[in-house]
Amino acid sequence: MKQGPWRQYRSFFHQSNVMLGFVILLALVGAALLIPLPLIIKYALDKAIPSRNTGRILTVGVVLIGMELGNGGITLLRRWLVIRETKRATREIRHAMALKVHDVSIDYHRRNEVGLLHDQIVQQTQRVDSMTDLLISTFFPTVLLAIGISAILISINWLLALVTFTIVPLLSMNHRWLRPRVQRAVKDYQHEYADFSAGVLFSLRSIELTRTRGAEAEDVARQDAHLAELETKDARMTWLRGLYGTTQQTLLALSATLILVVGGITYARGHITLGDLFAYYAGLALLRGPLVTSFAAVPAILEGRQALTHLFDLYNEHDRNPYRGTRKLDLVGHIEGRGITFGYGDEPLLHDVDFELEPGVVTMVAGPNGSGKTSLVSLILGFYRPEQGELSVDGVPYDEIDMPTLRRQIGVVSQEGVIVTGTIAENIGYGFPDAAPGEIRRAAHLATVDDFIDTLQHGFDESLTFDGRTLSGGQRQRIAIARALLRNPRLLILDEPTNHLDAGTLRRVLGNLTRLENSPAVLIISHHPRVVDHVDRLYRIDEGRVVTDGIRHPTTTAGQADPPGTTP
Ligand SMILES: Nc1ncnc2c1ncn2[C@@H]1O[C@H](COP(=O)(O)OP(=O)(O)OP(=O)(O)O)[C@@H](O)[C@H]1O
Ligand SMILES: [Mg+2]
Repeated sequence: MKQGPWRQYRSFFHQSNVMLGFVILLALVGAALLIPLPLIIKYALDKAIPSRNTGRILTVGVVLIGMELGNGGITLLRRWLVIRETKRATREIRHAMALKVHDVSIDYHRRNEVGLLHDQIVQQTQRVDSMTDLLISTFFPTVLLAIGISAILISINWLLALVTFTIVPLLSMNHRWLRPRVQRAVKDYQHEYADFSAGVLFSLRSIELTRTRGAEAEDVARQDAHLAELETKDARMTWLRGLYGTTQQTLLALSATLILVVGGITYARGHITLGDLFAYYAGLALLRGPLVTSFAAVPAILEGRQALTHLFDLYNEHDRNPYRGTRKLDLVGHIEGRGITFGYGDEPLLHDVDFELEPGVVTMVAGPNGSGKTSLVSLILGFYRPEQGELSVDGVPYDEIDMPTLRRQIGVVSQEGVIVTGTIAENIGYGFPDAAPGEIRRAAHLATVDDFIDTLQHGFDESLTFDGRTLSGGQRQRIAIARALLRNPRLLILDEPTNHLDAGTLRRVLGNLTRLENSPAVLIISHHPRVVDHVDRLYRIDEGRVVTDGIRHPTTTAGQADPPGTTP
């Protein structure tokens, strides 16, 4: 299903066909109102004024005023409709991009630079928006006007019209010569701008690393390298845009002069009246304004066209989420992998792995760094599809499952506790905006972070910035644990939940986790020797194979979590 960017772009206007038809009709009516203007001027100069009839002259004035006011009103109405349609289409394109961001695979996001994706969505949609507005409100009406006025000009005097139209091949040659140059310059500029934008984001996001390494000068130098390139590319693009507009305008001006000379001679020889010549000139003047605006718009339209290509690169990205099932399952908590072989490149990371997670059973996965423990979590979450083998949940193959519904029933604490911009309550309730304050407090209590939150000036309403850089590592980690525990997940996955926790906190958190209500399945990845005491089953990943150390402790019925402040 390979469509050109124009056709795909057009599909965002599928609801607007009637409206666009009406806009074109309005442009036609507006043009029709203006087109007779040269003829009325000819009448004024050849008939009304020479007859010295005040009534006729006033009538001409009234008609002209009526035409101009009518055209002004129609232009405003057209403008309003175009703005509405353009902004609606832009919102739809942005909405489609917001959906697409979640449609592409996690692997796509891990492989791509976030700054570049950000630029693609934010900047390019803006450029497409400008292009749409220019195309519908400037370009197409000018074309209609040009066709109508050309007909009038031919009717006034075909010889002058012929002279006028000699400009068309010149304009077209100039356009064909400059267009690819402008297009290339725009492309280079947009690439460089995206790099610049990503560079600024990088600089801001790595500020602490830069300070720690004393690498400020290096960071500024790295940005300077982009700035120099950006300066060159921006200057070239802006120059070519100006060159395009100015050369086309100069050609128009030359043509007007040519008409004056040829028209003057034709008048001198008595082939036309002064009224003809003046009317002809008025027609040209009428056309000139919109033509100049249109020529000035061409580079921005080319820029929008380029942006469209970038935008649809992402929109058409084939690396989508690997599972697309629709079955919304009420998870019991039984996850099984059979014969799983998986790797990121040619070499498999996991070979023929079998594993099982059960409700009420705390399973631990151990293994050296880089052995594939976090990758196993990615497989369980359905971020990747194994090359061989099958994953199932409560006996249903992953291919049938609606993944967002499944994941809402899984609590995950990833290796780096993720904090987003928002209050602590919003962080714990992320994804569950209807979570009640009581639920949030309870989750915070189970994660043993409620005491800390109560010491803050605004408590659960304390604002955090992206990455939670005003918190300690352990506080971040426990907020992430609280988030995972919200709404009683049926499966709890904790990837190295212990690296920021002191021994006492670790014991309390694990004690709470292993005695959660409704006995979820728990998967803990850890290097910490103490964690082993709290688990029922242990898998070791060793050179891609998984060996099980069997059940350590028989599963007990779930008990209550520790009361607040319990010290183990
Ligand atoms: N998205 C990815 N693309 C390519 N390779 C990857 C990707 N993610 C992880 N890897 C590689 O896969 C291997 C296993 O990584 P994984 O994160 O699963 O290890 P781990 O067992 O969790 O290690 P650690 O104890 O250090 O957390 C590593 O060699 C890593 O470089
Ligand atoms: Mg890991």
